[in-house]
Amino acid sequence: MRIGVLGAGRIGGTIARRLSADGHAVTLANSRGPETLRDLAEEIGATAAHAAEAAEDAQVVITSVPFPRVPSLREVISRAPQDVIVIDTSNYFSFKDGLIQAVEDGRVESEWVQEQLGRPIVKAWNNTLAGSFMTKASPPGAPGRIALAVSGDDPQAKATAMRFVDTTGFDPVDAGPIADSWRQQPGTPAYCTDLTADELRKALAAADRSTMTERRDRMVAEMRQHEGMPANEELLRLSRKHYLEPGTGPSRRLGR
Ligand SMILES: NC(=O)c1ccc[n+]([C@@H]2O[C@H](COP(=O)([O-])OP(=O)(O)OC[C@H]3O[C@@H](n4cnc5c(N)ncnc54)[C@H](OP(=O)(O)O)[C@@H]3O)[C@@H](O)[C@H]2O)c1
Repeated sequence: MRIGVLGAGRIGGTIARRLSADGHAVTLANSRGPETLRDLAEEIGATAAHAAEAAEDAQVVITSVPFPRVPSLREVISRAPQDVIVIDTSNYFSFKDGLIQAVEDGRVESEWVQEQLGRPIVKAWNNTLAGSFMTKASPPGAPGRIALAVSGDDPQAKATAMRFVDTTGFDPVDAGPIADSWRQQPGTPAYCTDLTADELRKALAAADRSTMTERRDRMVAEMRQHEGMPANEELLRLSRKHYLEPGTGPSRRLGR
């Protein structure tokens, strides 16, 4: 498929690399322009472009930019074909993103993203740590394969996103409509806890909207006691400690 990836960081760049390796025609953009992306694009077999060019002719646009930058993509996305599938990877953390009042007031993050972009989205690849995403991909059927949640309202768009999640090395799990996508937001048992598909389904069902913000903030507070950003396995340990309910997690496999 023709895929435009907006955002070439740890998540967008890795998605672009893996979809390109699978034979898709990937166009990759960042905010600074294609000349800053040529080496990466060449290495992974993608085309570097301006964001508008990446969206214009795409069948699928994947948005992977910092949450507060999402509104800056509205004009770019408006150039994409009407039937384009938009898949978004973003998460909101006020400590780094600044306060976004609607989300602070309880708006589901992906509903806010849809409003900003002016298009329906599928939410995918958000409930992984970048380090896990980059280093723990495995082929379908591999024992203990890590699963990622996919939410969306359009069955065909969601099916495409789930196929892509699989292509990037993770079991896709249908997490329901966008209205329920809070179940894969920061602070929930599904968020960045490296679960298998069966474990992830239980975790999504066990999510508690009334405690997730407090849990997220407790995790962030402990994370910020570290000097600098903790390594991936420490982030995983903290996520499991603060987000998992007894009985929902892989406590027997904490070493994974
Ligand atoms: N890091 C994680 O552990 C993780 C895990 C899952 C999901 N996420 C979410 O996924 C998203 C990306 O995360 P990341 O860690 O990959 O971020 P990142 O490494 O900081 O990369 C962000 C990318 O977005 C680009 N960008 C910013 N504004 C843009 C615009 N208007 N048009 C096109 N590109 C733009 C940046 O380009 P420039 O450098 O040129 O500005 C950069 O390539 C975030 O929403 C994050 O919350 C992150």
